[in-house]
Amino acid sequence: MRKLRVKLPLKTILLIICAISTFYLLLQQPSICLSSSPDPPFTTTAAAAAASPTTLSHLLFSIASYSAAFRRRKPILKLWYTPNSTRALLFLDSPPSIDPELLGLPPAVVSASTSRFPYTFPRGQRSAIRVARIVKEAVDRDEQNVRWFVFGDDDTVFFPQNLVTVLGKYDHEKWYYVGSNSESLEQNLKMSFEMAYGGGGFAISFPLAKALARVLDSCLMRYPHLYGSDLRISSCVAELGVGLTREPGFHQVILLPLLYSNVSVLHLGDVFGMLTSHPLSPLLSLHHLEVVEPIFPNMDRIEALEHLFKAVNVDPGRILQQTVCYDRPSNVTISVVWGYGIQIFEGNQLLPNILASQRTFKPWRRGGVSDSSQFVIDTRDYPRDRCKRPVVFFLEDVAFGTGRLWSKYRRYTAHRCPNTFAVRDIKHISVYAKKQHQDIGKAMAPRRQCCDIIHPFGKSMVLDIRDCGFDELIAMEA
Ligand SMILES: *[C@@H]1O[C@H](CO)[C@@H](O)[C@H](O)[C@H]1NC(C)=O
Ligand SMILES: *[C@@H]1O[C@H](CO)[C@@H](O)[C@H](O)[C@H]1NC(C)=O
Ligand SMILES: *[C@@H]1O[C@H](CO)[C@@H](O)[C@H](O)[C@H]1NC(C)=O
Repeated sequence: MRKLRVKLPLKTILLIICAISTFYLLLQQPSICLSSSPDPPFTTTAAAAAASPTTLSHLLFSIASYSAAFRRRKPILKLWYTPNSTRALLFLDSPPSIDPELLGLPPAVVSASTSRFPYTFPRGQRSAIRVARIVKEAVDRDEQNVRWFVFGDDDTVFFPQNLVTVLGKYDHEKWYYVGSNSESLEQNLKMSFEMAYGGGGFAISFPLAKALARVLDSCLMRYPHLYGSDLRISSCVAELGVGLTREPGFHQVILLPLLYSNVSVLHLGDVFGMLTSHPLSPLLSLHHLEVVEPIFPNMDRIEALEHLFKAVNVDPGRILQQTVCYDRPSNVTISVVWGYGIQIFEGNQLLPNILASQRTFKPWRRGGVSDSSQFVIDTRDYPRDRCKRPVVFFLEDVAFGTGRLWSKYRRYTAHRCPNTFAVRDIKHISVYAKKQHQDIGKAMAPRRQCCDIIHPFGKSMVLDIRDCGFDELIAMEA
């Protein structure tokens, strides 16, 4: 405050002097006062990033598809692609019978022939070479003002605003290969822990993409024995001396429903356990959602995704972010997964246990068993006994007004077990929160939020999500 009192008049005097001199010098040197900022010039990368933040227009998405298939993928692509604000290209194997742009899809690029490249993986598909070469074909187009090239399949659902936030953490003028492993241990062992899974999507910074485009064809000659396109890319990136930068928001989703007596455990959402335990990092992609069960009950797969996007469109940074509230009087633990679902567990469930994924899924391999050794994420059992399972609520509606987000969740599990007495009558839960600011600081050092039970039990419950206090703990007995 003391400093401010001294500075203000001085600044005012300077402004007056400046205004007077401007009056005389207006025609000759109109800029002298505009550049009289006392701040030192920007020098650090962080400052440069703050001065010129990465925006959606700096991302160029390249999507691998087929002329015979892209129309089928239209509902998935339309979830995240908007013609006027997303820059994307649809790479096809042959000229399409209808221009994808007429359907509101990204413009088509027909891939060049790859017949000169060898492919020797037994029972594999040589289209892997075409898909790998999309990296080169996208870069060689010389599109202007691209900071990041993003690659995915036509069944990859991207969350573009979150990609902007996450990629904004990195200096796009340096060499970065950003993606994620598979959640399946077996997949990583078969392919590589250093590979970004293509279906989950990955991003390459502009200068690395340029370098990769120059050398990719030579790499493709050296790796005819590999199975897929993504392993070809990661091999070539490795030859350039670059490793994978892992971002846990990319999801390959190579999971199948865990069946008890041939019935999916929840009769829905075999990826429920994964979606309700997202890492503390923005959701960047989901893949294979046409294969798994619909993620919401009583909807088809696409309707369910459109429902999720109602929340995504209101606050993308918050989607699937998990907050845990404890209610000691009722002896319950409440896990809120914003924009998706809420689970109420009986008793005091310690936070690390709640954060592990419930295995409502099993590995892709048919007949495979489901135990924690199959995954590279923390998992825990999903109880066979219905009365040991949480009471589940799913997103019903979401709205934004006067700086506050409101989302409402409707009860799905009807079972009346003696141990869920405290929550027996709850039909709805409303959750209030502030809209999240997508800033680099928060992206670099995220902290889980806390929540309060504003209106406890009865027919409807109200929760409020807020920043945790300085040394506040997320625990029942803290
Ligand atoms: C997109 O841009 C086109 C051409 O500039 C314009 O005609 C159209 O109305 C825009 N659509 C939206 C949804 O903004
Ligand atoms: C489960 O499915 C398998 C294969 O379809 C079938 O052989 C078996 O009888 C089914 N079991 C039950 C309990 O329905
Ligand atoms: C809370 O619930 C747990 C799990 O059911 C139970 O073991 C425990 O005794 C309960 N504690 C109280 C104080 O009711």
